Amino acid sequence: MRLKEQVAIVTGGGSGIGQASALRFAREGARVAIVDSELAAAEGTAARIRAEGGDALAFGADVGMPGTADANAAAVLAHWGRIDVLMCAAGFSCGGTVLTTAPDDWDAVFRTNVGGTWLWARAVVPAMQRQGGGSIITFASQLALAGGRGNSAYIAAKGAIMSLTRTMALDFAADGIRVNAIAPGAIDTPMLARGFGRQADPDAAREASRQRHALGRFGRAEDIAASALHLASDASAFTTGTTMVVDGGWLAA
Ligand SMILES: NC(=O)c1ccc[n+]([C@@H]2O[C@H](COP(=O)([O-])OP(=O)(O)OC[C@H]3O[C@@H](n4cnc5c(N)ncnc54)[C@H](O)[C@@H]3O)[C@@H](O)[C@H]2O)c1
Repeated sequence: MRLKEQVAIVTGGGSGIGQASALRFAREGARVAIVDSELAAAEGTAARIRAEGGDALAFGADVGMPGTADANAAAVLAHWGRIDVLMCAAGFSCGGTVLTTAPDDWDAVFRTNVGGTWLWARAVVPAMQRQGGGSIITFASQLALAGGRGNSAYIAAKGAIMSLTRTMALDFAADGIRVNAIAPGAIDTPMLARGFGRQADPDAAREASRQRHALGRFGRAEDIAASALHLASDASAFTTGTTMVVDGGWLAA
């Protein structure tokens, strides 16, 4: 078991990549707190962990709302006494160029993706400093490295997360806290389906995206969970301030 006795918090853990990672962390011995704006979804993941014999808490919270991260992290500490891993997977995209993105949508994308990463890191770092270490995993995208059409707020937010990841890694390296981003390719989750659904021809967009991946398939949430486990565990003890690309060869094409 690679996370035995550890405590992990997974935002966005009610669906997709966050859910698969929460389940994987629990199978590796971690107690897992799942945070999601959809409380029922968070509770569903927690129930699956408990059904497998694990220990889980569920919180319904908007990661971009100041104050909720502090309150939820305090509840985790009160329950389990430590926080070893934070994975910030809560995120969403609204689509649109800079011309077609409404200011409120731009703000919401930044508040959730970037703000939700900042506020949650801010809430857990003091506990990690007291413990002498921890691992924070953030979520970028291959699109932040390559660019992409019709998704300006999301891609800009993912670029900001990569920069925030590097600066947090430097600020807290002396505390033994490692901070790394994962940049997935297209992963078959509800978010991906919503993205194709916004295209004029969703089926054609889906097929073109699939073909761009050198491995000839979309990623599975479990593929990303395996990488998240690597970054969460001591297997990555010398890795910090970097972005791990897990894209099935998308960037190489
Ligand atoms: N699926 C992909 O192809 C892909 C590619 C690159 C990066 N990512 C990133 O991976 C992460 C996980 O994506 P996914 O595909 O699993 O998406 P998903 O939509 O399946 O799951 C995201 C979860 O986050 C929750 N969430 C959204 N906004 C929230 C908020 N403000 N507060 C709390 N919870 C909130 C949703 O309720 C949902 O349960 C995201 O950061 C996403 O940007 C995904």
